[in-house]
Amino acid sequence: MSASKLVKPSLEYRESFIEALAEYHEAGLLNQLDLERISKDYEGFVEDLCDEMGQHHQNLEPWAEKVRETVLWLVKDTDYIGFVKIRHRVNWHLERFGGHVSFSIRPSMRGRGFGKKLLQRALPSIHALGIERALITIAPDNHAARRIIEFCGGTLQDQTSATDRFPAQMRFWIVYD
Ligand SMILES: CC(C)(COP(=O)(O)OP(=O)(O)OC[C@H]1O[C@@H](n2cnc3c(N)ncnc32)[C@H](O)[C@@H]1OP(=O)(O)O)[C@@H](O)C(=O)NCCC(=O)NCCS
Repeated sequence: MSASKLVKPSLEYRESFIEALAEYHEAGLLNQLDLERISKDYEGFVEDLCDEMGQHHQNLEPWAEKVRETVLWLVKDTDYIGFVKIRHRVNWHLERFGGHVSFSIRPSMRGRGFGKKLLQRALPSIHALGIERALITIAPDNHAARRIIEFCGGTLQDQTSATDRFPAQMRFWIVYD
């Protein structure tokens, strides 16, 4: 069995990705991704994700300034394990919620060290996109994410208070020397 690696989304992970998405939906997560539509046109879904120009990050407000985003997947053999999304820059919204980088491990694969591997392996890609300081924001009670970010060299800047628009967030920076 091979080691896990970070790759561009691709066709060989179809079965595993669809299974993972069903798992996310069962846990009440990623509901914005339409399982039926993706099952029917997985090829088109992957093509959009791999757009050379990067995806448009779905902002909290439809009228907010759009930001390019690169999506990479953590995989092992033909198994899909998780994703990292790297925004090429942060806008006003992302400074408060979302940051440059977000990441997720599919529910059934959590607690096995993959979260650490995912962010660690994403560090060169983040830098390669021209990001010298990467912002990551997380909920204050997200202890696993905090462990991962600090393991990858992130330092806490502050904790924002909840507003009518944004939930409270701890804001971390990973700075490249
Ligand atoms: C956060 C997330 C990525 C963690 O993934 P994971 O694969 O379970 O993480 P790991 O197994 O690599 O564990 C990372 C560290 O957190 C610790 N940890 C895991 N769950 C924990 C918990 N509930 N409380 C405290 N620490 C926890 C682990 O012990 C490990 O620390 P250690 O190696 O120093 O002992 C995963 O839970 C997830 O996808 N959550 C939803 C999305 C999210 O919150 N993303 C993060 C911010 S965008």
